[in-house]
Amino acid sequence: MAATAPYDVDRVRRDFPILKRIVRNGKRLVYLDSAATSQKPQCVIDAISRYYSEDNANVHRGVHHLSQRATDLYEDARHKINSFLGTMVGCETIFTRGATEAINLVAHGFGKGFVNAGDEVLISHMEHHSNIVPWQMLCEARGAKLRVIPINDDGELIMEEFDRLLNGRTKMVSVTHVSNALGTVNPVAEICRKAREAGARVLIDGAQSAPHMPIDMKAIGADFFVAAGHKMCGPTGVGVLYGRAELLDRMPPWQGGGDMILSVTFEKTTYAHIPARFEAGTPPIAEVIGLGEAADYLTKLGMDRVAAHEHDLMVYGTEQLKQVPGLTIVGNAKEKAGAISFTMDCAHPHDIGQILDDEGIAVRAGHHCAQPVMQRYGVAATARASFGLYNTRAEIDALVAGLHKVREIFA
Ligand code: ALA
Repeated sequence: MAATAPYDVDRVRRDFPILKRIVRNGKRLVYLDSAATSQKPQCVIDAISRYYSEDNANVHRGVHHLSQRATDLYEDARHKINSFLGTMVGCETIFTRGATEAINLVAHGFGKGFVNAGDEVLISHMEHHSNIVPWQMLCEARGAKLRVIPINDDGELIMEEFDRLLNGRTKMVSVTHVSNALGTVNPVAEICRKAREAGARVLIDGAQSAPHMPIDMKAIGADFFVAAGHKMCGPTGVGVLYGRAELLDRMPPWQGGGDMILSVTFEKTTYAHIPARFEAGTPPIAEVIGLGEAADYLTKLGMDRVAAHEHDLMVYGTEQLKQVPGLTIVGNAKEKAGAISFTMDCAHPHDIGQILDDEGIAVRAGHHCAQPVMQRYGVAATARASFGLYNTRAEIDALVAGLHKVREIFA
C-alpha cells in the first residue's frame, strides 16, 4: 500500500496470516494483545525462512559467499532500523536480544562508567519492571539513589514533580514513551530537554511506542532509546538500542566474547568499536533480518497513517467501553496509544480474560509487569485490550459484546 493511499485495514489484515485463524468454538481470532507481542506479516515470516533456506551463515566472520551475504543482510537491517528511527549514524544502533537486554546493557555500562555513590537515577511510577529492576540493581551496586516521578489519577506524569526531582545529582532519567499498562503517551521531548538542561542523560523506553507512531530520534533528543522487535511486527529474540556514540564509546562492554574485540592476548584485550563492541557472540541473525523487514513494512505502511488509524480505535474503543455497566478504565491520560486497561465490578480480570477467550478474543489479564502501577490504583490486576495496525472497529464491537457476556455470567 503506497503511503499516500487511504489506510486500508482490510488489505493490511491480509498480510497477517494468523488473523484468519479459528481459535475457539469456531470463532475467528480477535487479537487484542499486541502490547504483549504483535502479530507478524507474511513478508517477515518469509524473510526469516528465506535466510535459513538460502543464506544461512554466520556474520562478520567468513570470507565465503554465504557469510558475506548474511553479513550484508544483517547490516542492511541496521540501515533499515536507522531510517525507521530517524537516526543518522549507523554505529549508534546496536542489536540486542530484546528491549529488556538493551536497558540492562545501558544500566550496566552507563552505570559503571558514569554513576557513583550519592548520584540519582530518576524513573517514573508507570514503568514496566524492565525499566525499574535494572536501575534498582545499579543503584544497589553503586550506592546511588532511585527516585520516582509520581503519576496522577489519570495516569499522567506529574511534570511539576519531575521538575522538582530533577537536580544536579541526577545522572540518568529513564522513562517509558508509552505505558504498557495505562497506554499513557509521555512528553518525551520535553523530558529529554529538561534533563539535558539539568546535566542528566535520558533513556526512553520505546517498546510500546515504536509499533504505534512515527519515531524521530532527532525530535525526541534522547541519549538512549530502546525498542522490542517482537512488538513491532518483527520476531522475538531481538531488540534495538540506539545510543549517542559519544556515550557508547565511553561505556564498558556489556558481554565479552567473539566479535566484540580488536585483539586478545592473555594479558590484555582491546575492544572493537561500536556497534560491534556491544554485540558479543553470534547475534540473532535471522531475527535481525526479520526485524529489518518489519521496519521496512511499517515504513511502507507509513507510521503517521498507522498512528491515525490506531487513534481512531483508541477513541472509539474508549467510548464503547465506557458504556459497559460496571467497567472502569484504568488510565485516562489525554494522550494515549496502544492499550486500554480496565476492571469490572462483577468479575476478576482473569475471569474476564477467560470469558473473552471463549469468544476467540485475546486480551491480557494481570499486572502487566508493572506492579507499581497496580499498587498506585489499588488493584491486583487489570484486563487490557491492546491493539495494533491490523485491528478494526468491528473487533472493538466484538470485545464489547464479550464484556456484556461477562456481565451476564458474573453480575
Ligand atoms: N511487556 C509486555 C506486555 O505489556 C509483555 O504485555
